[in-house]
Amino acid sequence: MDPFWQSLYQPYFQNKKVLLCVTGSIAAVKSLELCRTLLKLGAQVRVVLTDSALQFVTPLSFETFTGTHCFTNLWENTHGTKHIDLARWPDLVLIAPATANTIAKLAHGFADDLLSTELLAYTGPLFIAPAMNPSMWSHPATQANAATLTVRGASLIGPAEGDTACGEFGAGRMLEVKELIEVLAARIALPRTKGTALITLGPTRSSYDPVRYLTNRSSGKMGAAMAFALDRAGYEVHVVSGPCDVPLPHLSCVTRVSTAEEMLLECRKVFKGASVLIAAAAVLDYRFQETRGEKAKRADASLSVTLAPSIDVLFELNRERTDQQKTILGFAAETNDWLAHAAQKLKKKGCDAVFVNPVGGDTGAFDADDNEGWLLLQGGQPEKRFERTTKAALADEIVRSLGL
Ligand code: CTP
Repeated sequence: MDPFWQSLYQPYFQNKKVLLCVTGSIAAVKSLELCRTLLKLGAQVRVVLTDSALQFVTPLSFETFTGTHCFTNLWENTHGTKHIDLARWPDLVLIAPATANTIAKLAHGFADDLLSTELLAYTGPLFIAPAMNPSMWSHPATQANAATLTVRGASLIGPAEGDTACGEFGAGRMLEVKELIEVLAARIALPRTKGTALITLGPTRSSYDPVRYLTNRSSGKMGAAMAFALDRAGYEVHVVSGPCDVPLPHLSCVTRVSTAEEMLLECRKVFKGASVLIAAAAVLDYRFQETRGEKAKRADASLSVTLAPSIDVLFELNRERTDQQKTILGFAAETNDWLAHAAQKLKKKGCDAVFVNPVGGDTGAFDADDNEGWLLLQGGQPEKRFERTTKAALADEIVRSLGL
């Protein structure tokens, strides 16, 4: 598992009690990885297997991961109320994979095994990841049963379209584990009622010719961490991203741009309605004055190019702010004299706060999963120091410090 991805999703699942119910589909083999991933994300996991699931996976496999008993039988070691105890324990129940039979039983209230009995007694959030042959999924009976469960408040995750184990193509595949976790995280987060947060992230580019361009070392990871922190804090997240490849919250709206000028253009479309702006992008300060239409050829002589200043996205947006924008945060990437440079930037850009992080050297912020720095606020308050930690944890601390 990619450690950066893990650090972004851990806060959604840390200490969450997840009852993972596995039913009889070949996709049950994915549920082992799902169980392991949930554990790595900090969840407490208990597992229930149906009789049919036992045809595909064994309790021992899950017990090896969870270190706890895997439940399979309504009558084992019974003292009468095991199904009720199991139903009261979790913060959420995830049925993955969920077969057509299990979906039908739940829709009609059957209680003839541990899973169905326990779910009749369960009143919390229920997530269902169907997995079956595409014709079984599209059958009116299955569709009606799934609709019944949705109306009752259950949340369906998938199925995805693709090749199924039976050799047919269509909707019926259980989502891959990573994708399933990403959707689940989006559904268990707080409702997004605090308004829109606009986040710029990544580098920008300026083209010299169709082959070469100028850019910088920004990975976009700090901006991505801010996007996740704001998603968790209850904001609708809108990202304007320069060219980079970072995970972003499942429900965020993402616009991809290349140049500083495009970034400003796209930000303007969202900024008016946004209550928060986080300018985490490492925007190029210069662009090629002229871009060639054809590839420039090598010559045995030195080459001079003219760079013109590019637009300052943060400065321009800050000038256009109204009462709607409650908080505007800029980032400063500095190799030296961090606090002095950051104080100048705070003054020059006019935003509410600047987070300054050291770049360059072995422990610089570029492309790292960890970061550190200082938060400077307008109004002459002393700067706040943030010790080195994951960018995900740091973003949460910044969001808290700004009262977002
Ligand atoms: N920024 C911007 N547009 C630019 C340059 C910077 O929006 N053309 C924003 C960045 O997103 C960041 C803040 O301004 O929030 C500071 O960026 P930084 O690159 O550290 O500072 P510069 O203003 O570019 O100054 P310098 O490169 O001289 O340090």
